Amino acid sequence: KIYSNSSLASIAVAKEISELIRERQQDGKHVVLGLATGSTPIKVYKELIRLHKEEGLSFSNVYSFNLDEYYPMQPDSLQSYVRFMEEQLFNHIDIPKSNYFIPSGTLPQDEIAAFCVEYEQKIENLGGIDFQLLGIGGNGHIGFNEPGSLQNSRTRLITLDQVTRAAAAGEFQGIQNVPRKAVTVGVSTIMKAKRIVLMGWGEGKSKIVATAVEGPITDQVPASYLQLHSNTTYVIDESCSSEL
Ligand code: GLP
Repeated sequence: KIYSNSSLASIAVAKEISELIRERQQDGKHVVLGLATGSTPIKVYKELIRLHKEEGLSFSNVYSFNLDEYYPMQPDSLQSYVRFMEEQLFNHIDIPKSNYFIPSGTLPQDEIAAFCVEYEQKIENLGGIDFQLLGIGGNGHIGFNEPGSLQNSRTRLITLDQVTRAAAAGEFQGIQNVPRKAVTVGVSTIMKAKRIVLMGWGEGKSKIVATAVEGPITDQVPASYLQLHSNTTYVIDESCSSEL
């Protein structure tokens, strides 16, 4: 779906999320969201905050699971995804603190595998992800599933690509400060979501979006796996559509 700009696109995505939340509220049920970080979803979160403040949208029945976190990473660090999510969304809405989950950047390495199993178990116990929001990395990664990630990959500790570390260098004041690893939900975790929306803005993402949508399904472009998902929409702006 191509929108003339990312603001209109983000408002539409936020509307879909809010309708799902309200629908479930009416039935006395909860919703499980899969949420993303990065610059791409910021306007969606802004609109969700606006809907909360101005239109009474409540998040009291929402559970959310973030895609990923750098490893190691302290939650209060500037670059932490815990901090990002709290500043960009959670601190401004009424989601209970016990309802949102972000992969751990602080556990000792030998406890990460068990943490990842538990993370997936929590998602399963809540009935799976209803709505998964995604951005896309310049190398086609989703979450931090870098090229080479298999379709059946689960939540795990991964080694970041050089391309990904280079892209984050600015935020970390130099590539040498970018963590070498991250914890990410797996491709199969993402593919189990009942609904997926991948967003992409600007010329800079146009090539990789075209490759992921129109190219072969390959582990070298993890976003291409979404071609196999029956309820995925790529929501992009006009400049991001230039290579399609
Ligand atoms: C990071 C995140 C991804 C995100 C990607 C794109 O690597 N782990 O989940 O999709 O960046 O970032 P941006 O939205 O800033 O372009």
